[in-house]
Amino acid sequence: MSTLPQRVFSGVQSSGNLHLGNYLGAITRFVELQKNFDCLYCVVDLHAITVPQDPLSLRANTRKAAATFIACGIDPKKNIVFNQSQVAEHAELAWILNCVARIGWLNRMTQFKEKAGKDRENASIGLYDYPVLMAADILIYRATHVPVGEDQKQHLELARDIAQKFNNDFAASIARNGFGESFFPVPEPLIAGPATRVMSLRDGAKKMSKSDISDYSRINLADDADQIAQKIKKAKTDPDALPSDEKGLEGRPEADNLVGIFAALAGRTKADVLGEYGGANFSAFKNALIDLSVAKLAPITSEMRRLTQDETYVDGVLRDGAERARVLARANMNAVKDIVGLLR
Ligand code: AMP
Ligand code: TRP
Repeated sequence: MSTLPQRVFSGVQSSGNLHLGNYLGAITRFVELQKNFDCLYCVVDLHAITVPQDPLSLRANTRKAAATFIACGIDPKKNIVFNQSQVAEHAELAWILNCVARIGWLNRMTQFKEKAGKDRENASIGLYDYPVLMAADILIYRATHVPVGEDQKQHLELARDIAQKFNNDFAASIARNGFGESFFPVPEPLIAGPATRVMSLRDGAKKMSKSDISDYSRINLADDADQIAQKIKKAKTDPDALPSDEKGLEGRPEADNLVGIFAALAGRTKADVLGEYGGANFSAFKNALIDLSVAKLAPITSEMRRLTQDETYVDGVLRDGAERARVLARANMNAVKDIVGLLR
């Protein structure tokens, strides 16, 4: 396996506005990793349709997510930026992996339980099978590293289990086909930094999410300076001043969240931020956070707006990315077919 290149894969759903959680938990990491790795960044539209989507909005949101990647600094020439449904091999490999993954493993997935809610019988089979498609997204490129937010940790563990079971189940055939001891690398999750789980601005116990009904719960990357200021001003806090060390954030989820957001945006640690703001009241800290957020996000927002209007350019990026992705995916899919014993 040591001869395989190190390769990064990650995906973001095209199901609505991207927000500060997506940006700090995932996209800023994508931008850093492009310096040292070959990276594929995918807008996962096949994942989005596991819950109902309006076809016209879905198309627009796929373009918007791609425009966001580029506006945040992902270079689509150096990396492969594409939408999942243009590379049929993701779905093709997912079928093979469906026959490797076990129902017992999927039954443990907490995200399915949360998303399906009480009416589980009525959830789509796609929603249940979602983690297997996610494993296929990663493994079809034999990717080695996967930057994600904390909420995807369990899905990554499943992808690792599927890779290992495939390697074990087909060990003899893998060797016979000249791939040595294993075919799929066991992908490493990259979950790090002060904002791997950005929480709702209205409730420190809930993660910031596209699907929260309150727009005040999140900062969208499309928000303007006034919206950002209003949302931060209204963000829930507690009555005490900021503590001067991280231990003092324990049991204060809203304070912890705002300090984490500040640290991540400033490229500093929480300890460092508290060294400066410890003892300050929230109104002073919120003003500093508003200035920092606007300074960091305004250039991204305006570039996103510009790119979203240039449909031809964005569609061109996605088409070019899909063509390059397909070359890698087809070669690996052919190898999988040989290993499994499917004629081609
Ligand atoms: P999604 O919007 O669910 O497709 O998520 C895309 C990426 O953003 C994944 O890597 C998630 O783990 C990450 N992400 C989503 N919400 C948050 C959050 N509130 N905090 C940190 N990372 C997040
Ligand atoms: N499930 C991820 C999310 O909702 C998105 C995703 C799909 C993904 N396929 C992936 C992330 C592969 C990393 C790698 O956030």
